[in-house]
Amino acid sequence: MPFKSETDSEVLVQLVEYIMQSNGLEVLEALQVALQQVIGAYAIVILDREHPDTLICARKSSPLVIGLGADGDYHIASDALPIAAYTSQAVYLDDNDIAILRYGQPLQVVNIQNEAQHPKIKQIDRTLGDISKGDYPFFMLKEIFEQPDCLRDCMRGRVLSDDDTISLSAVADYRKQLTEASRILIVACGTSWHAGLIGKQLIERFCRIPVEVEYASEFRYRDPVILPGDVVIAISQSGETADTLAAAELARSKGALVFGICNAVGSSISRQTHTGIYIHVGPEIGVASTKAFTGQVTVLSMLALCLAHERKTISEADYHELVGELRRIPAKMETALQTNELIRQLAPVFTYARNCLYLGRGYNYPVALEGALKLKEISYIHAEGYPAAEMKHGPIALIDSEMPVFVIATRETLLDKLRSNIQEVKARGGRITALTTVGDNSIRRYADHVIELPDTHECFQPLIASVPLQLLAYHIAVSKGLDVDYPRNLAKSVTVE
Ligand code: F6R
Repeated sequence: MPFKSETDSEVLVQLVEYIMQSNGLEVLEALQVALQQVIGAYAIVILDREHPDTLICARKSSPLVIGLGADGDYHIASDALPIAAYTSQAVYLDDNDIAILRYGQPLQVVNIQNEAQHPKIKQIDRTLGDISKGDYPFFMLKEIFEQPDCLRDCMRGRVLSDDDTISLSAVADYRKQLTEASRILIVACGTSWHAGLIGKQLIERFCRIPVEVEYASEFRYRDPVILPGDVVIAISQSGETADTLAAAELARSKGALVFGICNAVGSSISRQTHTGIYIHVGPEIGVASTKAFTGQVTVLSMLALCLAHERKTISEADYHELVGELRRIPAKMETALQTNELIRQLAPVFTYARNCLYLGRGYNYPVALEGALKLKEISYIHAEGYPAAEMKHGPIALIDSEMPVFVIATRETLLDKLRSNIQEVKARGGRITALTTVGDNSIRRYADHVIELPDTHECFQPLIASVPLQLLAYHIAVSKGLDVDYPRNLAKSVTVE
């Protein structure tokens, strides 16, 4: 049969029609035959013009959720968010399942071999149906400002204020495998990968378990070595990122315990993992991830401290002190958000930059990567994040008075060394904007602009320091008149490779 289109969904429809006509089959039977032949991921809905009262949906490796309305109506989407306003009940199709939807009639599900399936009905989170920008001009700004409350939600019932301890059911349920893990592999993409880099530092420092962080897209195709005793953590806001899902499935098939850190409840990754922790920061609408990032870092902080306590690799005193400090982070984030007006005024200065550098060390190195990613995504200014000491190995050649350099220079072990890195940039005419800890004036003389942040333990600095960088990217993009929530070429969930 000649191909009539280069679009895969159009080819699939042609194939189904061809099978119907050449074998005298109905659309459901023809679809079952077709889907046994096709390779790859799909989430499809078919309407046969001869049977306009029936919709047939099928999925494999791409998400598909069916909302069950109260009046016999159905709602189909790739996640629960868009249908939450219409129904609170949903069915998530499994791979190779086909659902037949007829208005007013019960949902029927079979697989591609035509065996009847009985999927469970799940409740949709009620808060999903209630999404608005409120008084904010963009979802991104709202989500940046929501972060203190989001982190409180994320810690609720997990960080216990009575005795400054952490209780995680996932750790209780899989205590042996997690505490005895010989290695942890973190797989994720984009911003979630940056959170993973912070998770690595937290887990290695407090739990003394070696951690590797990989791009899910690379991990899935390089035949990775997975050893008995490995734990794989898949981090994903949407829980639908195709590469992260495939990496989690691969790890599971090779015998690893797979642990999910997701935001979207009921998402594919959360269903594919053995256990995990939801970040519970509420739906994130802005394409540029903000509150999901700080939620992921909060979950990784809780996980690291909880596991370290179980493994006795942290002293009791340090454990309680750090848990107490984690509890204080939302309030400190509120203080960090007060830099908004200063950053709004500063932002137009950077509107015409063509390139920017973000520098940080230790826990703040991933913050530099994340700050640069935010700027790239929504302002379309090229930006790179670098570990500050790496500057002299190449990128310092780029420094001149045209190049804004953002340095995360908050109080931390490596601050003295970072100060020398800042001097190197200054000596070459770089224009420095420094994030510093309030009360530390040692950076001021090298910096053109200083943004002061509240003090915290260095391991929690990313939760504070990422806030002004989110605001900076936001205000620069707004100054350029760009659509912050829906930047060009980007999708909120990347459900394809
Ligand atoms: C950046 C951003 C992306 C996502 C990445 C992974 O602001 O949103 O880089 O972080 O596409 O998405 P999730 O976390 O849904 O797997």
